[in-house]
Amino acid sequence: MKTMEINKIVAGVICAVLLVIVVGKIGSALVHPEELETPVYPFSEDLMAGANAPAAAPAEPAGPEPIFALLASADLAEGEKVFKKCASCHDTENGGPNKTGPNLYGIVGNKFAHKDDFAYSDAMANHGGTWGWEELNHFLYKPRDYVEGTKMSFGGLKKAEDRAAVIAWLNSKSDNPLPYPDPAEATAAEGTDAAADAAADTPAEAAESNDAPAEEAPAADAPAEPAAEGEAPAQ
Ligand code: HEC
Repeated sequence: MKTMEINKIVAGVICAVLLVIVVGKIGSALVHPEELETPVYPFSEDLMAGANAPAAAPAEPAGPEPIFALLASADLAEGEKVFKKCASCHDTENGGPNKTGPNLYGIVGNKFAHKDDFAYSDAMANHGGTWGWEELNHFLYKPRDYVEGTKMSFGGLKKAEDRAAVIAWLNSKSDNPLPYPDPAEATAAEGTDAAADAAADTPAEAAESNDAPAEEAPAADAPAEPAAEGEAPAQ
């Protein structure tokens, strides 16, 4: 009698387990959940990025890729093609007219707001400085970021090749085109440029002196010796 009771209980448990398994199988045969490719709520990475935002933000605008190394091999015909995007607003012939934007003949190496007879935005008119390779590279990457308040409504050229080609072509539209910068020197300069930007308050001269090993006052990244010139320590 007692064993009969135990058998019943065991059979009951086994039946219950079987039932659960069978119902589970039937359930998953009937319902196919659709896996989303991307989560509706972008939790992991974006949240992490958000959490790191204060630290990451200053480094975020990575800026344009350098073009110095691309200039020497830049294809002028390609540059002329890229310039079609600019041609509705810019003439490039010597003595040609201003359009929506100023005439760009001889712009490479010229000063910002180089045309006296064009009504520049205050931002451009008061910017000061010279349109060298770097300046043009940055400006054409994102005009409104580089000259905040410019009235040139152009999104920018995101491809380094396009910027190099069009800048090289613009350079040819000039009485005396500039020689291309030496890529080796140039990458060093561009590198220190970035370093100077990161250090924010390092003056340009300090960045340049990085090229000359340890002869001049040690710049930001050579903290080893106490500066003889009494320069303020970088940190
Ligand atoms: C929608 C019209 C428009 C387009 C397209 C355009 N620009 Fe401009 N550009 C302007 C205007 C307007 C200015 C004057 C900006 C100011 O005063 O803030 C300007 C200014 C400039 C300057 C500074 C000139 C100076 O005298 O300092 C350069 C360089 C320049 N543009 C190059 C280009 C190039 C290269 C392209 C194409 C990749 C281009 N622009 C596309 C309208 C345009």
